[in-house]
Amino acid sequence: MAVDTYPGGDLQGLEAFVRGHMAAYDCSHDWLHVQRVRAMARRLAEQEMALGKTVNLQVVDIAALVHDIGDAKYTAEGLPSARDQILGVLSRFGYAGGMAERVCGIVEQVSFRKELELLEQGQTIDLSNHELACVQDADRLDAIGAIGVARCLSFSAAKSRPIYLPDAPPVKVLTAAEYMRLSASPTANLSALNHFHEKLLHLAGMMKTEGAKGEAGRRTAFMQEFISHIKDECEIPW
Ligand code: ADP
Ligand code: NI
Repeated sequence: MAVDTYPGGDLQGLEAFVRGHMAAYDCSHDWLHVQRVRAMARRLAEQEMALGKTVNLQVVDIAALVHDIGDAKYTAEGLPSARDQILGVLSRFGYAGGMAERVCGIVEQVSFRKELELLEQGQTIDLSNHELACVQDADRLDAIGAIGVARCLSFSAAKSRPIYLPDAPPVKVLTAAEYMRLSASPTANLSALNHFHEKLLHLAGMMKTEGAKGEAGRRTAFMQEFISHIKDECEIPW
């Protein structure tokens, strides 16, 4: 099947904008995260294409580039929605029409919370959208493994959350509403280590692309080892 092509926009201008936008976030969601997601999304897309799937690399790259613009965790109330911010930015740098719609369709479905909500309603994200699969898996691979541990600790530090609470049994999040209440709430009394149970240990089972499935298994094994070491080192009886 032929891949749609879209007119090129001002990619350097868009990159400079995103780099400036991410500078307001902490280092769990910085420009380097965006660059890693772009590189991994491209690698996963090439692997999917080698398996015979049709994937538009331009859509993958632009969606990965803008996927964290307007993230609610960092956006003050009253600002335009992430979708409106992204549509505005894409149009400003010459990416409008079908390309912008496809990119927004990806960004709207990329998040863990969104997928939890759909699964609870007996639905799924659009599994025929191969570009979404590549960007989502790339974003999730960056949430797990060694880099995932580092990002989780960075985000928790930015929110002044404790690293590990030895007396608190893991709070396992089961629903999208609980995830929002516990994980995204600024007042939630949860540790960085609890985020593994809220989200990070679930991600390997939610990967869509073949390349990400194997990589996610290796990264998850590393996180399990990390959790086990933290417990050993921190659970010293008083
Ligand atoms: P998604 O786009 O899937 O909703 P997020 O942007 O919420 O993902 O999370 C990305 C990363 O930010 C997480 O993998 C983690 O490293 C960090 N993070 C987000 N929420 C938390 C939290 N409550 N505690 C610790 N880390 C978090
Ligand atoms: Ni991201």
